Amino acid sequence: MHKARWLKSELDRLHHAGLWRSLRSVTTAPTGRILLEGREVILLGSNNYLGLSVHPAVIEAAATAAQKYGTGASASRLMSGNSHLYADLEAKIAKVKATEAALVFGSGYLANIGIIPLLADDGDLILSDALNHASIIDGCRLSHATKQVYRHCDIEHLESLLAQSPKFRRRLVVTDGVFSMDGDIAPLPEICTLADRYDAMVMVDDAHSFGVLGKKGGGTIEHFGLENRGVIQMGTLSKAVGGLGGYVAGSAALIDFLVNRARSFIFTTGLPPATLAGASAALDVIRSTPELRRQLHSNVHLLKNALLQEGFQLLPSETQILPLILGAADVASRFAEILLSHGVYAPAIRPPTVPEGTSRLRLSVIASHTPEDLEAAVEGFVAARAAV
Ligand SMILES: Cc1ncc(COP(=O)(O)O)c(C=O)c1O
Repeated sequence: MHKARWLKSELDRLHHAGLWRSLRSVTTAPTGRILLEGREVILLGSNNYLGLSVHPAVIEAAATAAQKYGTGASASRLMSGNSHLYADLEAKIAKVKATEAALVFGSGYLANIGIIPLLADDGDLILSDALNHASIIDGCRLSHATKQVYRHCDIEHLESLLAQSPKFRRRLVVTDGVFSMDGDIAPLPEICTLADRYDAMVMVDDAHSFGVLGKKGGGTIEHFGLENRGVIQMGTLSKAVGGLGGYVAGSAALIDFLVNRARSFIFTTGLPPATLAGASAALDVIRSTPELRRQLHSNVHLLKNALLQEGFQLLPSETQILPLILGAADVASRFAEILLSHGVYAPAIRPPTVPEGTSRLRLSVIASHTPEDLEAAVEGFVAARAAV
């Protein structure tokens, strides 16, 4: 096919399948209401779970660091881009995660594609939950290990795969802590028990639980009290922490290994000083302000109950991520557009982000939603349903 034509036919295919994606311009900070292409809408599509990207102490720390150190790191961390602000941030992450050490990457995506190929290589086995995030899947793709996918949160299936796998040198079980599109929590106590029985490593991606779950906001490991089980904890600073960056928390030896070998750590520029200082201040707020977590949980309760009372069928999520399953991709896209016309922004999530036939609206609640925001959102859903 002619080189310009194949591209057009690919784009046409996406359009026809209801899978077209386009960018929309936001002109305000990600709070409960935003200006989206000039129009005020209630935002149910952000991961700023605790509202920390607009917290005054976080903004002040970031602004001060920008004034003092400028806007960029100017080199990779192993060259001259290792600002002293990293040490402070990594110490705080290791503390809240109850691990020996932590290492900050440029993003959560980079952390996943950096660590997974190092934990499991040729001759090893990776067992990955069927609904793991794309960055975990890509980390698995970059590894030379054998990969097997176990049914979502299915411990019996995981055990049967482990039981059939004695020939491998190392085994790694990898799972989202809170599943990004379903909002449910991985059965980590059971996974750890199996891992001990079959001598496997466990890695959890805490992107959606860091700052949110656990008494101190430490994430799923704290939530389940599994601090002494040696689970490798990966996560991101871009969601509840309100900034940018990813991390791995684990043993000091693991961190040394990553510094020496993780390609997505070595071959990329360090984070801007303002980002590091902002994340560090956000971790202080997470530690000192448990009310934010309580506020988030109370908002989740409010929205969830109101939607259930109106007869909407949500997946049984246990967290701030509330999925409304709509089925076909074009149905989800249409519902999202009509909902937007009623002043509520909850983007449609379609394949390949979620499995075929399970397109949905992913509603994410944040602590800075007011009861009025959430009540107006429910009215928007009711009106949109009547108009679909
Ligand atoms: C479960 C999960 N892991 C990793 C990532 C990647 O994190 P980041 O946005 O920091 O690259 C995301 C979010 O995009 C996620 O939802």
